[in-house]
Amino acid sequence: MEQRTIGQQGLTASAIGYGTMDTGLGDGANYDAASLSAIRSAHEAGVTHFDTAQLYGWGKGERLVAEALSSIRDEVTIATKFGFTPRFTPDSRPEHIRDVVDASLRNLRVDSIDVLYQHIDDPTVPVEDVVGVMKEFVEAGKVKYLGLSNTTPENVRRAHAVHPISVVQSSYSIFDRSSEEFFPVLEELGIGLIAYRPLARGFLTGGVKPLDEYPEGDFRRRNPWWAPGNFEANLAISEEITALAHSRGATLPQLALAWLLARKPYIMPIPGSRNAERVAENTAAVNLELSADDLDRIDRIAPNGAHAR
Ligand SMILES: NC(=O)c1ccc[n+]([C@@H]2O[C@H](COP(=O)([O-])OP(=O)(O)OC[C@H]3O[C@@H](n4cnc5c(N)ncnc54)[C@H](OP(=O)(O)O)[C@@H]3O)[C@@H](O)[C@H]2O)c1
Repeated sequence: MEQRTIGQQGLTASAIGYGTMDTGLGDGANYDAASLSAIRSAHEAGVTHFDTAQLYGWGKGERLVAEALSSIRDEVTIATKFGFTPRFTPDSRPEHIRDVVDASLRNLRVDSIDVLYQHIDDPTVPVEDVVGVMKEFVEAGKVKYLGLSNTTPENVRRAHAVHPISVVQSSYSIFDRSSEEFFPVLEELGIGLIAYRPLARGFLTGGVKPLDEYPEGDFRRRNPWWAPGNFEANLAISEEITALAHSRGATLPQLALAWLLARKPYIMPIPGSRNAERVAENTAAVNLELSADDLDRIDRIAPNGAHAR
């Protein structure tokens, strides 16, 4: 698989990574067995970067990643994140960061975490103080590279002044262009971008359903992409992009991932799937080279991403 350099501090990994949010969130022996095999299948398909977080099962997700990758630990890089309370509110108080990172080192069974992210900005703690604590772990040899997620370009700049930031993780796909506001600061400071939710919550997998087919309380009920009017328009976009993908001998998710790889050389998408065939399908997207005409066509189909108002 093509390798990409993420940041200027030495992090290099496969152009497509693997997101383990879903593998950490479910329960039961069957669920765990399927998750372990999906994570291993990603490595067999050439993936060398795995993304997890304390939030993904409050330690369980990290333990699954550790178990799946234990025999090939030296061949992969693992990223994890701190910064949430169990009520899903931000918490980047120094004592919380220290507790979570110590627990992550134990859960992942490593002496050193490859990439440590603040998962979300905490408005009550200045980012300089957050990075000051993250930096202590780098100096102690317990973390190699630093990242920020769900943040702002301004915070990236402030954080980088305290300690070099290697990577920003942000939602980015044909449907969600908001991450493009980071491009100037990333290019100025030499920082990489990990694109999460690259398949747009199902709109770029072909598996999206109307809202009433999802259970009550499903997160999609609050997402404007599914609002009446928007849903139909967004479905039409994904159908047009599917037709383009098929004309190139590819699938919709492959085209969605190839589009991200074509945007900038410092971008790595981290699709997640608990299905080994889909994992292989997703990683094969590195072989799909989109032409300038293909990219123009996608811009004409979805000039501003999804309909979201
Ligand atoms: N920093 C953050 O705040 C943040 C937030 C969200 C996510 N993330 C990270 O980003 C990763 C990916 O994000 P995500 O899971 O939200 O979104 P995603 O990768 O865009 O979509 C994942 C969904 O697409 C399905 N899928 C994947 N490949 C497919 C294929 N080839 N064909 C059909 N369906 C396919 C998966 O279902 P199956 O498992 O059934 O295949 C899963 O439901 C996460 O695992 C996590 O590591 C980070």
